[in-house]
Amino acid sequence: MKGWLGNFKVLFLLGMLALVLTGCGRENLTALIPKGYGAQTSMDLIILTTIVMTFVFLVVMVVYTIVLFRFRRKKGQEDYVPKQVEGHKMLETVWTVIPIILVIIIAIPTTIATFDLASEAGSKEDDAINVDVTGNQFWWHFNYNDGEIQTSQDLYVPVGEKVFLHMLSSDVVHSFWVPSIAGKMDLNPENENTMYIEAYEEGIYWGKCAELCGPAHSLMDFKVIAVSPEEYDQWVADMKDVDPDAEPEDAVAQEGKELFEQNNCIGCHAIGDSPAGQGPNLTNFGNRTEFAGILEPTKENLVDWIVDPESIKPGNKMTGMYPDVSEDDAEKIAEYLMQLKDTDVTPDSVK
Ligand code: CUA
Repeated sequence: MKGWLGNFKVLFLLGMLALVLTGCGRENLTALIPKGYGAQTSMDLIILTTIVMTFVFLVVMVVYTIVLFRFRRKKGQEDYVPKQVEGHKMLETVWTVIPIILVIIIAIPTTIATFDLASEAGSKEDDAINVDVTGNQFWWHFNYNDGEIQTSQDLYVPVGEKVFLHMLSSDVVHSFWVPSIAGKMDLNPENENTMYIEAYEEGIYWGKCAELCGPAHSLMDFKVIAVSPEEYDQWVADMKDVDPDAEPEDAVAQEGKELFEQNNCIGCHAIGDSPAGQGPNLTNFGNRTEFAGILEPTKENLVDWIVDPESIKPGNKMTGMYPDVSEDDAEKIAEYLMQLKDTDVTPDSVK
C-alpha cells in the first residue's frame, strides 16, 4: 500500500509540474495561438491529431473498463479457464483496419500541408520579398533582396504577404523558429534551406534558435516585427537611405562614434548596407527591441555588455576582440549606438 501511495505522489508532482510549466508560455511565443500561415496550418494538424488520439484513448479506456469489471475473477471461479479466442478473425480485422483508417485520416492532410508549405519556399520571384538569413553563434543576420537592406536581429515584414527566407549558417547548425508564425527550419553551413513566413496580424513575434549550437544557444533570440504594408514600405525606404557616416548631433555621441572606430568595433559591426561582418550589423540599433538577444534596450545594459560581454553571453565572438573599454568610454559608445535611429517605423508602430 505504501509503495502505491509513493508512486501516486510522484505522479501527482509530475502532473502538477507539467501544469505549471504549461503556464510558462507567452502570447507571442507559442504555436498554440497561431498568427501566421505556417503556424495556422500546424495548429489545424495538431487539432486533427488530438481529436483522433482522444477518440482512440476513449475507445480503449471504455473497452478496458468493461473488460476489467465484466471478466474479473469471481469467487469460486479460481480454477476457471475462460473460452480462448485466439485467432478471432473478426477482432483481428477490426483492430487492424481501424488504426489504418485513422493513420490515413492523419496522413493525407499532413502530406498536403507539407507539400503546400514547401511548394513556393524555394523561389526567388522578382516581386516577392526575399531575405537571406544567416545564423551565427549567437545572432541572426538578415539580408533583404540581395543586399538592398542589411540588418540583424529584428526582421521587419509586412502583414499578409509572403516573405521568402533563404537560410544558411556561418558556423554550426542553427534552427529558425518563430512559433507564432511558422514551423522550424534548420540552417546548415552548406546546403541552403528555404521556407516562407506570412504574418496575419501586426505584432512582435518572438523567435528562438531551436538547435543546440553552443553555450549561448538559449540566448540566441530574435524578433519578427510584422507591420502594415504602408509602414513596411516606409521602413524599406528609410533603411535604404541610411548614411553610415552620418555625424551624431551631440558631443558625447560624437566622441562615442570616434571610440567606436578607434576600438575597431567597426571592424566587425557594419552600419548601413555593407555585407555581414563578424558581428551583427548595427544599422537602426537604437530601435532594436532587445540587444545581445536578451537584454532590454537600455543604456546601462549596453554599457555592461560592452565592458564584459562574456558575463552576459558565454561563448560569444565579441569577447577578447578589443582592448578593455572603461565604463566611461563604454557610456559614450552606448550613447552613439542608442542614437542610431534610422526610421520612424519601430517596434512601437505595431498596433
Ligand atoms: Cu543557434 Cu541554437
